[in-house]
Amino acid sequence: MIVAGLLPRVVAPDGWERVPTPGNRRFTEARRRLRAIVEDVIESYRVSAGNQRDDLLSALLTARYDDTGEPMSAEQLRDEVITILMSGTETTASALSWMFHQLAENPEVERRMHAELDTVLAGRAVTHADIERRLDYTGQVLRETLRRHSPLWFVMRRTTGPVDLAGVRIPVGSQVIYSLAALHRDPAVFAAPMVFDPDRWAPGRPVPDRQAFQPFSSGRHKCIGESFAWAEMTIAAATVAARWRLRPVPGRRIRERTLATLRPSTLLMIAEPRFATTAAPTTN
Ligand code: HEM
Repeated sequence: MIVAGLLPRVVAPDGWERVPTPGNRRFTEARRRLRAIVEDVIESYRVSAGNQRDDLLSALLTARYDDTGEPMSAEQLRDEVITILMSGTETTASALSWMFHQLAENPEVERRMHAELDTVLAGRAVTHADIERRLDYTGQVLRETLRRHSPLWFVMRRTTGPVDLAGVRIPVGSQVIYSLAALHRDPAVFAAPMVFDPDRWAPGRPVPDRQAFQPFSSGRHKCIGESFAWAEMTIAAATVAARWRLRPVPGRRIRERTLATLRPSTLLMIAEPRFATTAAPTTN
């Protein structure tokens, strides 16, 4: 509900969110429930000395502003938790969904990724060293997924001074929306941009302009979770693909849904184990 309601709220004129449309009412109710759940978790941390746990919420609870020595207000703490929760789950989930869709569409890519996982992992769990050094082709597949299906397909900025951009004067205080997905599909930068080709990122291939690949955006408001996202996606992709082949349910066309993230429309897949878990039955 919240993800579906975000985009209209971002682009509609101020005040629209107060009009009691069915969509706005669903959003407000979902936000009320989400806030209550997060407030309960924060409260349970407060009463059980959860601020001494070695996790993100306890770090936020113990954080103090440099200048005032004060902690965050209850409202800000709740909003920070919700921001991280939303930005950290929708994005990686969308990327992983697209990756499995693309593996099913491109059997040679799938074969090479499976071969790497079988050689490097050989049945064991993914380790930190695998993420950093050993799963090169899996990394290329994920990178190409973030290019071809950039989860956050647009970002916004407000000008703090007049800006001249490509011959257009943008006045101070303007809201500017620009699309990372359009950048990643620009044929001037990426040849045949709609083709899913992890070999674009193979060692030795010319690297496209660094500025032209920025699924995590750039500058001061760049994604704070980039390293976490790479680790999370690599572990999830490698762990699932090492054991399972995901086949599309026949007869369905997958489309892009332009919500706050660029998600696949309902993506139903059938999980087939890649290896038999029990020995094949013997005859006579
Ligand atoms: C594939 C995964 C991800 C992608 C593609 C992605 C992309 C982005 C982008 C494009 C932005 C906007 C930056 C801007 O306005 O310029 C952003 C912001 C943010 N991301 Fe991510 N993200 C991902 C995963 C994560 C994860 C795992 C977390 C946290 C655990 C996270 C936390 C955040 C936060 C808190 C912001 C707001 C930063 C700010 O406004 O200062 N993201 N992300």
